[in-house]
Amino acid sequence: MRTIRTIAELRAWLGNGRGRTVGLVPTMGAFHAGHHALMRAARAEQDAVVVSLFVNPTQFNDSHDLAAYPRTEANDAAEAAELGVDVLFAPPVSEMYPDGFATTVQVSGLTEVYEGAERGLSHFAGVCTVVCKLLNIVQPDVAYFGQKDAQQVAVLKRMVRDLDLPPRIEVLPTVREPDGLALSSRNVRLSPADRARALALSRGLHAAAAVVAAGERDAAAVRAAALAELGDVDAEYLAVVDPDTFAPLRTISARTLVAVAARVGPVRLIDNIVLEPVPVATG
Ligand code: PAJ
Repeated sequence: MRTIRTIAELRAWLGNGRGRTVGLVPTMGAFHAGHHALMRAARAEQDAVVVSLFVNPTQFNDSHDLAAYPRTEANDAAEAAELGVDVLFAPPVSEMYPDGFATTVQVSGLTEVYEGAERGLSHFAGVCTVVCKLLNIVQPDVAYFGQKDAQQVAVLKRMVRDLDLPPRIEVLPTVREPDGLALSSRNVRLSPADRARALALSRGLHAAAAVVAAGERDAAAVRAAALAELGDVDAEYLAVVDPDTFAPLRTISARTLVAVAARVGPVRLIDNIVLEPVPVATG
C-alpha cells in the first residue's frame, strides 16, 4: 500500500491503470470495525481501492472537537494495508484548501435540521465540499459510506444526484459492539461509566423497532417508546423521519428512520435504525 499526500501524485497513480474499477472510502481516520467494513466491501467489489484520511476542518463547528479528534495515521495505514487497500490518500490541509480557496457546496433544506441544526449550517457544507472534491479527485466508480451517519448519507446522495456526479454511492449497515453500541472514533473518549450510559441510545432504537414490529404505526408512540429507554441520557433530538428527505413522519407506512443524538460525558453520540414495516396480517 502507498500513502499519497498530493492530488497530483494521486491522479498520476490513478491514471496509470484506467480501465479498472476504482472504489473510494472517504474517512477521517482513527479506524474501527465500521471503517474496516467499508474497506472490505470496496476491496471485494473493485479492482483498485483508495481510502482517504483527512480530518476535514471545515465540517467541525467546535474547535475543541477538532483538536480532540483522534489522529492515529500510523495505525490506520497498517490496518488499511492489512485489508488490501491500494492507496491511503492523506493530504495536508493546505493541499485540500490552498490559499484563496473560496467555493462551498451547499445542499439546501436537508442540511438545516437535526445534525445541521445541532452542529451549525457549516457542518454539512464542509462535508459536501470535501466529499465533492474527493469524488472529483479520485473519480471512483463507487464511493462507500456508513449508515451510521444517516443524514450525511441522505445529504451526499442528494448532492450526487443534483450535481450529476458520476459515482454510485454504496451505503453499508452500522457496525456495532456486541452490546449494541455503534462504533465511533469518538467512543475512545468515553469513561467506563459513560460507556455504559451510552448504551441507552441503541436500547432506545431497539425499543422503537420492537413496538413497530408489534404493529405500532403512530410515530409519536414509537418516539415515546424510544425515549422511555433513554433514562437519564438527554436526547438532543429523537426523530422519526423519512430516510431520504428527513421530513418528520406522523404515521409509519414505509421505510422509516429513527435517529437519535445525545451528549454522554464529553462526547456527542449519534445512532439510528431503519425500520421497514411489514403489513400487519389481518383476518
Ligand atoms: P468518519 O467519521 O471517519 O467516517 C467514515 C465513514 O465510516 C463514514 O461513511 C461513516 O458513516 C462510516 N462509519 C462510521 N462509523 C461507522 C459504523 N459504526 N458502522 C458503519 N460505518 C461507519 O464520516 C466522515 O468520516 C466524514 O464526514 C467524511 C465523509 C469522511 C467527510 O469528511
